[in-house]
Amino acid sequence: MYVLGIETSCDETGVAIYHSEHGLCSHLLYSQVDMHSEYGGVVPELASRDHIRKLVPLIKQCLKESGLTGSGINGIAYTAGPGLMGALLVGAATARSLAWAWQIPAIAVHHMEGHLLAPMLEENPPEFPFVALLISGGHTLLVQVEGIGRYQLLGESLDDAAGEAFDKTAKMLGLGYPGGPKLSALAEQGTPQIKFPRPMTDRPGLDFSFSGLKTFTMNTVNTSGKTDQDKADVAAAFQQAVAETLSIKCKRALQQTGLKRLVIAGGVSANKQIRASLTQMVAKENAQLYFPRLEFCTDNGAMIAYAGCQRLIAGQQQGLEIYARPRWPISELN
Ligand code: KG4
Ligand code: ZN
Repeated sequence: MYVLGIETSCDETGVAIYHSEHGLCSHLLYSQVDMHSEYGGVVPELASRDHIRKLVPLIKQCLKESGLTGSGINGIAYTAGPGLMGALLVGAATARSLAWAWQIPAIAVHHMEGHLLAPMLEENPPEFPFVALLISGGHTLLVQVEGIGRYQLLGESLDDAAGEAFDKTAKMLGLGYPGGPKLSALAEQGTPQIKFPRPMTDRPGLDFSFSGLKTFTMNTVNTSGKTDQDKADVAAAFQQAVAETLSIKCKRALQQTGLKRLVIAGGVSANKQIRASLTQMVAKENAQLYFPRLEFCTDNGAMIAYAGCQRLIAGQQQGLEIYARPRWPISELN
C-alpha cells in the first residue's frame, strides 16, 4: 500500500510517500524559517499562505521521485492537529480533495503520534512497549506506548513546552528564530558556570515545568555580564538544566513502568546534549535509547505517512469532512 503523507501543522511543508512493505519511497520538506525569521517567530497567516503555494508542487515532485502517478497512491495521511488552524486546513483540504478525486481513503493523523512513531522509520526500530519522551515546540509529553494508538500519558509540561523554553531563552540572549538550534550552537562555546534549577525534580511525579527556568534565565541575563562569552555560559547552563531535568524524569518513568526502552522524538530531540545525557542515563539503567535521524526529529511528512499507513492498515479512515483540530490531546487517540 502506497500512502501519501502531508504535514502542514506549523512552519514546514512536508510531503512523503511510504510503502507498507518497502518503506519510505521519497520525502520532501520546505521550511518557512527564512520567511518567519524577519518577524522573530511564526506568523500564522503567512504560514498558511505559504503552505498553499508549496504543497501541490511538492506533492507532484514527490510522486515523480517515487515513479508514481496519483493512480498509484492507495491512501492519504494528513496532519489534522494539533497545530495552527489555517496551516492545518491547507493540508487537510488538499488531502481530502485528492482522496476524493482519486477515490481512495484519507486518514487524519495526530501530529504528536507522527513524532512518536518517527523512530519506526529507522533501521533498528523499537519494539513495543516503550516509554516515549516527546519534546517539541508546543509539547512536552511522557507517554507509555503499548502499541499503535495505545498511549497512556505519564506526564506533561504544566506550562511552557521544552522547545518553547529554548525559543524564549534564545530570544532573551538576542538569538533569532528558530531559537533551539541557535541556542544549542551557542551553548557549545560556553561552560555552565551558574547552576540553574532542575524544575520539579525534587518532588515525585512525571510532570514538567519550564516557565520558572525562563524567569531564572531572564534574571541571570539581567544581572550577569554581557559579553559573548557570558551569553554562551548562560546558554550552556540553561541547556544543561533542561537536559538533566529531562533525564531525571525519563529515568523515573523507566523505573515506574519497569520498561527498558526509551524513545525520544520531536524537534528538541535533535539537541546533542539532551541525547548525550539520555544516552548516559539509559546505559546506567540497562535500557535502550531510540531516536529518529535528525531530519525526522523536526516536522516532516515521512512520520505522517508512516503513522497514517499503520492506521489505514488497521482499517481506519476519515469521512468526507475536512478534519482539522488545532487542540487535540493525545490521550483522546486511544
Ligand atoms: O517538532 P518541531 O519541529 O515542531 C513542533 O511540533 O513544534 O519542534 C520545533 C522545536 C522548536 O522549539 C525548536 O527550537 C526546537 O524544536 N529545536 C531544538 C533543536 N532543534 C529544534 N531545540 C533544542 N536544540 C535543538 N538542536
Ligand atoms: Zn512537530
